[in-house]
Amino acid sequence: MRSNGRMNKNKMSLKEKINLSKLPKHIAIIMDGNGRWAKQQGAERIYGHENGVKSVRDAVEAAAELGVEYLTLYAFSTENWNRPKEEVIALMQLLVHTINAETPTLNKNNIRLKAIGDLKSLPGDCYNELQEAMEATKNNSRTTLVLALSYSSRWELVNAMKQIAEQVENKQLSSSDITEETINKNLCTADIPEPELMIRTSGEHRISNFLLWQLAYAELYFTDKFWPDFKKEDLYEAIIDYQNRERRFGKTSEQLIS
Ligand code: IPE
Ligand code: IPE
Ligand code: MG
Repeated sequence: MRSNGRMNKNKMSLKEKINLSKLPKHIAIIMDGNGRWAKQQGAERIYGHENGVKSVRDAVEAAAELGVEYLTLYAFSTENWNRPKEEVIALMQLLVHTINAETPTLNKNNIRLKAIGDLKSLPGDCYNELQEAMEATKNNSRTTLVLALSYSSRWELVNAMKQIAEQVENKQLSSSDITEETINKNLCTADIPEPELMIRTSGEHRISNFLLWQLAYAELYFTDKFWPDFKKEDLYEAIIDYQNRERRFGKTSEQLIS
């Protein structure tokens, strides 16, 4: 009959299947596969990056609509500087253009922009555009979009260790007082909770120097879809998968139930 619960459940959209009270606070995404997506269409790699921007828009919108508080997107790694010069330049231009074009939408949707990484290593126009966009959106409170730019986790950890060593040298801190919290506070993500869910597209099953410390207990979700094909429904699917997992943090299943 119509009232059959299971039937109704099958008819529910993916979005409706999400349990809003069990939403991850922070989702991190390694947006991978732009180049291969473009190659599949017989196009240049940059065409893949351009289409990847549409997926960024989709992911940000979906996260904000659901009420995900933080969305971190791995946009350019420290290692990506080693790509052919033309691709790096094209990526940086795309970045400047996109940030500039999207700032009004971020404001309209009450989304705050943040960036993590070695931002000083970015080209001047890119750095300035980013600073302006962060300034213009700093009071927004619905969702924080964190762009990882010229970011790598080892770079971040080396930086944190240098800062901590300096504090010890200056006698602001004693080495015996160093805790996990000290490390957290000295990372670029100091004021951001750790991601509960990390998604990587394109079928690669690796972390590629992304948030190594912060992902210690994240649920990892991999999809074969290339980033330009990753849309809202795909994000919903990842969240539902996450919600069906049991996060034990070292405990036994029985302990979690009692
Ligand atoms: C991800 O797509 C975007 C960046 C790393 C900037 P890729 O450019 O890595 O695409 P593939 O992995 O070569 O297909
Ligand atoms: C990771 O993707 C970095 C970003 C998505 C920005 P890559 O395509 O650079 O990673 P590898 O080289 O496959 O590990
Ligand atoms: Mg790649």
